[in-house]
Amino acid sequence: MTHSELPYANSCVRLGHYDPELAVYTQGLDSLGKDCLQTPSADTAALTARFDAKVERDEKIEPKEWMPDAYRRTLVRQISQHAHSEIVGMLPEGNWITRAPTLRRKAVLIAKVQDEGGHGMYLYSAAETLGVSRDELVAQLLAGTAKYSSIFNYPTLTWADIGAIGWLVDGAAIMNQIPICRCSYGPYARAMVRICREESFHQRQGFEIMMTLARGTPAQRAMAQDALNRWWWPSVMMFGPSDAESQHTAQSMRWKIKRFTNDELRQHFIDVTAPQADFLKLTVPDPELRWDEATQHYRCGEIDWSEFHRVVKGHGPCNRERLQARRSAHEQGRWVREAASAYAEKTRARARRLEESA
Ligand SMILES: [Fe+2]
Ligand SMILES: [Fe+2]
Repeated sequence: MTHSELPYANSCVRLGHYDPELAVYTQGLDSLGKDCLQTPSADTAALTARFDAKVERDEKIEPKEWMPDAYRRTLVRQISQHAHSEIVGMLPEGNWITRAPTLRRKAVLIAKVQDEGGHGMYLYSAAETLGVSRDELVAQLLAGTAKYSSIFNYPTLTWADIGAIGWLVDGAAIMNQIPICRCSYGPYARAMVRICREESFHQRQGFEIMMTLARGTPAQRAMAQDALNRWWWPSVMMFGPSDAESQHTAQSMRWKIKRFTNDELRQHFIDVTAPQADFLKLTVPDPELRWDEATQHYRCGEIDWSEFHRVVKGHGPCNRERLQARRSAHEQGRWVREAASAYAEKTRARARRLEESA
């Protein structure tokens, strides 16, 4: 699966300022295996054959093993964009923590937003195993050169949006992420197992909010319908460009990073979600949506790809606001990072002194 087909990172723009020669072999250098380092080209064919055979046998590729540069770059791009998406994804929902309608809803929402922060941390750690530093990745996000899922550039206008995000956005994320549990790169696959368990709780809590609103007063029903109207198409677009337009799908499927195409995943999402909307007695804002007996799938209307590209290029409703929020959080957290580093250094120095005096 490539960056453009990420559950959350549906951009088709490459990470900027990424120099594989510098970034891949920086802080992870001394922890990488010998055969990871520059290899004479005569050996490359044999290493590639060994790598391909391993992928073919469905064995995991681990950080210290040799891997093609392009595989490493694809993973760094995909995992980091996924991590950024988890972190930026905390913002639209964080917006409603102080205004959650009940104490129970508030506690659940805090836990959910905190989970997303944890997902970002696992994923930055998984990216670091490929030899890129977290500081570098965060710097790319803050500079605006890294991409994250454009779904998080839409505003959360009412409480029903929190329901719609859990139901649709986390629902779409699950469709995308379950296959990544079988991704050929070990650290990414293992991170996804726990993430998927938590995503499934997120999806259910969102659906439960929608159910409560849909069975509530006419005003609550209208609020749920309005949220579905605004979140449906951006959620469908989360699967990235159509297969015909997707540049990286074929290679990523050969590498077993990606297991299904964007359109296959999108179709699966629509097939699962449309009956849920019926159950809620809400209307999906697609007049062409209908069940097709012949194919045993839902058919749907045309996606407005111009909107998708506009938001990916930075012109969505909240792109600027999201980056600004991340930049000021980074600035305001500087003293915490400095204090934590100073404390870690002090602890290490104390341990060294104790060792020396023993
Ligand atoms: Fe998440
Ligand atoms: Fe989630």
